[in-house]
Amino acid sequence: MTDATGTVTRVPGLLYGGDYNPEQWPEEVWAEDVKLMREAGVTMVTLGVFAWARIQPGPEEWDFGWLDGLLEQLHAHGVAVDLATATASPPAWLVRSHPELLPVTADGVRLEFGSRQHYCPSSPVYRAAAVRLARALAERYGKHPAVALWHVHNEYGDHVTECFCAESAAHFRRWLGERYGGIEALNSAWGTGFWSQHYRSLGEVEPPRTAPGPVNPTQALDWRRFCSDALLECYRAEKAVLDELAPGTPVTTNFMSMFKALDYWAWAAEEDVVSDDAYPDPADPDAHVHAAMNYDLMRSLKGGAPWLLLEQAPSAVSWRPVNVPKRPGLQRLWSLQAVARGADAVMYFQWRASRAGAEKHHSALLPHRGTDSRGWRETVRFGAELRRLAPVAGGRSTAQVAIVLDWENWWALELEDHPSARMRWLDLLRPWYAALHRSGTAVDFVPPTAELDGYRVVLAPNLYLLRERTAQRLAGYAAGGGHLVCGPFSGVVDEHDHIHLGGYPAPLRETLGVVVDEFWPLPEGAATRLSLADGRQLSATRWTEWLEPHGAEAVARYDEGPLAGLPAVTRRGTAWYLGCDLGPQVAVVLGEILRTAGVTPVLAAPEGVEATVRRSPGGAEHLFLLNHTDRPIVVTLPAEWTTANDLLAPDRVPGPALTLGPLDVAVLHR
Ligand code: GLA
Ligand code: GLA
Repeated sequence: MTDATGTVTRVPGLLYGGDYNPEQWPEEVWAEDVKLMREAGVTMVTLGVFAWARIQPGPEEWDFGWLDGLLEQLHAHGVAVDLATATASPPAWLVRSHPELLPVTADGVRLEFGSRQHYCPSSPVYRAAAVRLARALAERYGKHPAVALWHVHNEYGDHVTECFCAESAAHFRRWLGERYGGIEALNSAWGTGFWSQHYRSLGEVEPPRTAPGPVNPTQALDWRRFCSDALLECYRAEKAVLDELAPGTPVTTNFMSMFKALDYWAWAAEEDVVSDDAYPDPADPDAHVHAAMNYDLMRSLKGGAPWLLLEQAPSAVSWRPVNVPKRPGLQRLWSLQAVARGADAVMYFQWRASRAGAEKHHSALLPHRGTDSRGWRETVRFGAELRRLAPVAGGRSTAQVAIVLDWENWWALELEDHPSARMRWLDLLRPWYAALHRSGTAVDFVPPTAELDGYRVVLAPNLYLLRERTAQRLAGYAAGGGHLVCGPFSGVVDEHDHIHLGGYPAPLRETLGVVVDEFWPLPEGAATRLSLADGRQLSATRWTEWLEPHGAEAVARYDEGPLAGLPAVTRRGTAWYLGCDLGPQVAVVLGEILRTAGVTPVLAAPEGVEATVRRSPGGAEHLFLLNHTDRPIVVTLPAEWTTANDLLAPDRVPGPALTLGPLDVAVLHR
């Protein structure tokens, strides 16, 4: 059982399974599917994600018989169902009778039927049809004992995040009307005194379609806000139907990790449980670090509540230019990494490898070769292992460090015509996160509105867009003794993308004790040397600033170039400012700050070993140790863990040290 805050309580232990698309197969195969699911220890499948055309073959035709039978079969065999509302891929009959529901690009191209996710988020026809389908499914299966979870739509924003059709334009105008009230408030917010962009009425406003040059940045920023909200309205409409007709069954929609287009703080607030689809690239040596970061976000989105890994690839995907499979042991390691970081489900795309269609080269729990395959043997072996981890379900983790993640800042930071197009949110964030990961420091993500008092250190790798009230919250945190660490190019604009005048980072200038005279971005390949007070040398790439201290002391100064002698890193009390991009070397500075703040790692683990702790509501504690390397590693255990048993290897003799084989995992229980 998972805890009471909203995970899938109907299924005990950790969920195991995947997307099940029986509509791609003749019925004879279904009985075998269910039998093999049992053999593999599957406890839940996600059913019907792309089955709209099968469930509703025509405007007034419905075919539930096959679903009725499958739900019975699955239920009889102890497999719970995450039932999809099936609304992500409108059928041909609907599209041909209402071609206006197809999405239009910024260039005015209407995207054709023949793939998936071909709908305009603002289309009333699409919305009505989607809600009708969700209602039909909820009326029929809302109280079905097999249905343990509802899965709204699929990956909102996948393929299509925005639509520029006339309907979307009208919707955008309505949204703007609510935001600004009158046209002059919009003119002021959008700074339309610039380039003769003044509007007399909302009727003159359009979405930021492809224009001759850079579009109005505030228009572009509001468009990002609107597009996240427009898709959220679609979700909300379906969720309302499920809440009405299937009360008590949790509802989710699967996220796409750290995805720019949707403000997942706003989205997660409307879900009963957060779920994610994660596709780390086996060809990327840092994939597990990026994955850890995404999992920490998922765990943070509902304040630490367990989340569900609803999709990952058992081996290779099919949508990268080169799709490298997972070498033996990697699928197990990466799955358990998600569990270590708060997941209560390990699910995959997909159950049975497709024979036809765009994803036929994507790996599956049951590969094309059938049960006599490495993939299937791993599926069965891992299902059995996961059962041993049932006591972990519902457990939470704590962190002394938080990272501020603000979607509107992400959108604003990456608008056009900035001092450097190389200042990208993920590129700035990742080295900071990697430094924490390498040092074994647990971290939460927090929204700009969060309560920060519980954290020893709050990191803001970038806050280009900084609202006054966010600045006040951060300033109050630092004034109260919290260690606040701000990255470069911060405090530059307000919520309308208007410059904070008087010297950046204006709203935090007092707190940080610095003023930026001018930004000094570096071109590709360039670097500037700087030295810490103790003589250690580092180098900045991508970004530096002409930084003058006003109350802060210099922690590091530039050694060369036009900024020689000026501070690169500063400190005023517990407020730190990094006026440059140090890339991976940021670990040196952050390491000092964490030490100063008294932050302790989960475990002094050797390089390559990831350690996390989950605590169950009942009081049990689990220490996860994951060896991300291809060599055996000896981990010295703290005294309190030396007598704990390993849930994955009951025969492993506990003691002061534990040897983890290549890619191996231990889950100590006490
Ligand atoms: C051109 C235009 C100006 C301004 C500058 C910016 O010269 O005429 O309006 O946009 O570029 O460099
Ligand atoms: C996403 C989708 C799935 C499938 C997988 C393939 O996660 O939700 O339908 O396309 O990608 O990796």
